[in-house]
Amino acid sequence: MKHTAACSDFLQDQWAERCRLPRLDADLPQDAEWCEILEDGRWRRLRFHDYGDIYDRPGLYEHLFYGLLGCDSPRRVVDLLRMVRHDGGMPRAFSALDLGAGNGLVGEELREAGAESIVGIDILPEAKRAAQRDRPGLYRNYLVADLTRPADDVIEELSRARPEVLTCVAALGFGDIPPLAYFNAVRFVPVGGLLAFNIKEEFLDERYTHGFSELVRRMVRDKVVRLEAQVRYRHRQSVHGEALYYTAVVATKLAEIPRAMLVRP
Ligand SMILES: C[S@@+](CC[C@H](N)C(=O)[O-])C[C@H]1O[C@@H](n2cnc3c(N)ncnc32)[C@H](O)[C@@H]1O
Repeated sequence: MKHTAACSDFLQDQWAERCRLPRLDADLPQDAEWCEILEDGRWRRLRFHDYGDIYDRPGLYEHLFYGLLGCDSPRRVVDLLRMVRHDGGMPRAFSALDLGAGNGLVGEELREAGAESIVGIDILPEAKRAAQRDRPGLYRNYLVADLTRPADDVIEELSRARPEVLTCVAALGFGDIPPLAYFNAVRFVPVGGLLAFNIKEEFLDERYTHGFSELVRRMVRDKVVRLEAQVRYRHRQSVHGEALYYTAVVATKLAEIPRAMLVRP
């Protein structure tokens, strides 16, 4: 698999005997899933959402999500982006902002798709450390910031970057990136730029009237964005072995998002 190029097979294989998926209650929600890792002779529980602890251990993120659980989202979202850019006759080279960048798997796909300048942003310092450790030089800049309250230097850097593409993969809809942070990120993308993201398929369902789901519906309905392509695909399997389906979306930004469109999560 591609991710092994930067994060070596060796680092991932180290976890083969030291990371296990316990038998979990079938009702356990996706955002409460956990695994166990063997450290200093003892099995220790790690929640999947304890990203900082996972990033701190080289190879564990890749082994757990990509090896054991078969996650395919960075590739699927960036492939859709690549297709839209190709069909739109856009030049191969582009600049990107990767929101919720984690340890750089999306950045790696973006680079392969032609991104020449990628700025990463994540709320966790552990994510930046892991990206720099495992994929040095991939991001032109990697900001640790909370985009619900961006500091002046963050605003300055993102204004300078003027990314033609905003990616946000596996980071929306589970209490991760709030609508306000996404809204603020979109402001740095010029009109005509592309937004590429994925979300659990049922979160786009009309029944979900909260948070990011509602923001996306409003953006499409009021023609703030134009949907270019979307695809339902298998994001990964759950710890119970069930397929978790997500929708990857690529849309063109047509106008600034009116602040009134923001809804409470
Ligand atoms: C499942 S990981 C996905 C990482 C990467 N996009 C990938 O696909 O491998 C979700 C990431 O979103 C980040 N995140 C969560 N809330 C955030 C926020 N408010 N602002 C920025 N990043 C956030 C987490 O720290 C984590 O690195």
